[in-house]
Amino acid sequence: MSEKKLIKSYMLRKGRMSDGQRLAYEKLKDVHCLSYEDKSIDFKKIFPDSGKHFLEIGFGMGDVTHAIAEKNPQNAYIGIEVHSPGVGKLLSEIDKKGLKNLKVIEHDAVEVITNMIADESLDGIHIFFPDPWQKTKHYKRRLIQPDFTRLIATKIKPGGYLYAVSDWEDYAQQILQVFSEEEMLENKFSDWAEPIEWRTETKFERKGLKKNHLIREVFFKRKE
Ligand SMILES: C[S@@+](CC[C@H](N)C(=O)[O-])C[C@H]1O[C@@H](n2cnc3c(N)ncnc32)[C@H](O)[C@@H]1O
Repeated sequence: MSEKKLIKSYMLRKGRMSDGQRLAYEKLKDVHCLSYEDKSIDFKKIFPDSGKHFLEIGFGMGDVTHAIAEKNPQNAYIGIEVHSPGVGKLLSEIDKKGLKNLKVIEHDAVEVITNMIADESLDGIHIFFPDPWQKTKHYKRRLIQPDFTRLIATKIKPGGYLYAVSDWEDYAQQILQVFSEEEMLENKFSDWAEPIEWRTETKFERKGLKKNHLIREVFFKRKE
């Protein structure tokens, strides 16, 4: 994993934090963010009343993240993102809606998952529209590769799920193939999943739809 960890699946885009996002970021970071630590998260301590525990990787502006958390107050959610304006936006939504069941970690998801998430501790993982890294020479920067898939599969409880969506056809094909080849996982569908009714539209989904891209859903379970 050490060599793989050097490959970043994201490019930090500079600036462009609106005044509102900056204000929310500065005021709310210490309230709704969890710091990156080399230690497993104690879900029961952070969310004492929660039933199930879910993780979203690369939430972007977090539009789906807060919508799902709001609809499911009985569950606990952690969103991971490295893009500060998106973190600021999600923090302001958490505050506005008074959500007690959603926390944010601003850090590289690979490190967070490796060091902060205990094995078999999650009921589900969401990865919506991961960066497609369109040029062939950049494919190695795509987040969803066999090693990463093995890593996240180990964090899901038996019977829990892994749900990814992409509008980038060859990346979607790669995701379907890599998940299919991971022996801890099984497809809930024969190949592509039906659209899952509780997932609302994301910013990157809207961009894809404007370009007439097909939205591909991939939904696997960790084997019991
Ligand atoms: C194409 S955007 C999609 C955002 C959002 N899910 C949506 O659908 O609108 C992918 C996001 O993943 C984030 N990302 C990529 N690799 C990451 C990593 N290793 N750790 C945390 N976030 C990451 C990027 O910063 C970016 O915001």
